[in-house]
Amino acid sequence: MTIQQFITAIPKSELHLHIEGSFEPELMFAIAQRNGIQLKYKSAAEVKEAYKFSNLQDFLDIYYAGAGVLLHEQDFYDLTRAYLLKCKEQNVVHTEIFFDPQTHTDRGVAFDTVINGIWRALREAEAEWGITSLLIMSYLRHLSEESAFETLQHGLRHKDKIVAVGLDSSEKGNPPSKFERVFAASREAGFLTVAHAGEEGPSEYIHEALNLLHVSRIDHGNRCLDDESLVQRLVEMKMPLTLCPLSNVALRVIQGMEEHPVKRMLDLGLRATIHSDDPAYFGGYMNENYLETARALHLTKEDVLQLVVNSFEAGFDSAAQKAKNIAAARAFYEAHKD
Ligand code: HPA
Ligand code: ZN
Repeated sequence: MTIQQFITAIPKSELHLHIEGSFEPELMFAIAQRNGIQLKYKSAAEVKEAYKFSNLQDFLDIYYAGAGVLLHEQDFYDLTRAYLLKCKEQNVVHTEIFFDPQTHTDRGVAFDTVINGIWRALREAEAEWGITSLLIMSYLRHLSEESAFETLQHGLRHKDKIVAVGLDSSEKGNPPSKFERVFAASREAGFLTVAHAGEEGPSEYIHEALNLLHVSRIDHGNRCLDDESLVQRLVEMKMPLTLCPLSNVALRVIQGMEEHPVKRMLDLGLRATIHSDDPAYFGGYMNENYLETARALHLTKEDVLQLVVNSFEAGFDSAAQKAKNIAAARAFYEAHKD
């Protein structure tokens, strides 16, 4: 079996996926039309043409505009269903999904509309396809602490549906310290925590995410390599780093896939994992992220197995479910390693 076939077929886990970032232009147009919203572009092809970014903010401006056509519970259901269908096609058996409530509540869409639509699609995918999933509520870091606290209040009404809180959006100038109190309140309420840190922002933000937000995973974390003692600390903590290679190329965090640090990170003993971030915007879902990385960095089947196992281990699902998925991945490797 070729490495490409191996990557495609091995059971995988996704831990860094913004559901709003899985909004494909075709679906965006269909939903805009039924909601009577005029997009600034004439066709899905024209939308894709606009997806040329030079940094994170460039992307975020287009991403928030795209999410603006989502109004009704059915829209959030359709968005989530389409992503889960991709998971099924790509052998992603477990996924932990970010959603950005403030992107919608700031436009007057009710929190319940958002989460209920997403939730219905998750439950159906588990029943129909056996795909397990968890939800992570992300605070937008360019907005105020007060707005994050309001979002937490909504989240508490849906505590049964949310496993963790996260932190995303414009990183530079919005350090983790801005959200220390709302993360403390979130942890007190029983949520786990994660945060985007060290994507565009400095390695100091990774220290803050560890020290002040007490995160269980760092999302991205590329910039840890600027700080040797931080790398040592992350290795000792076995802290997962949820890397997103195609995202890094699209947002110019790196200049090309050949520069991607994932292999170097594995060699340093870091618990690196691979995910898709915003697949509709960055040119691919889980398999494309693995395939492009493997091609550019000459990853072996052992490397891919390590990344897959790291991702299952770093999940927030039960120890029993993780053990079952890891055993399946290892069995797949044993059957197809030659
Ligand atoms: N970084 C920060 N915020 C985001 C991202 C990202 O890659 N994707 C969606 N929101
Ligand atoms: Zn992200």
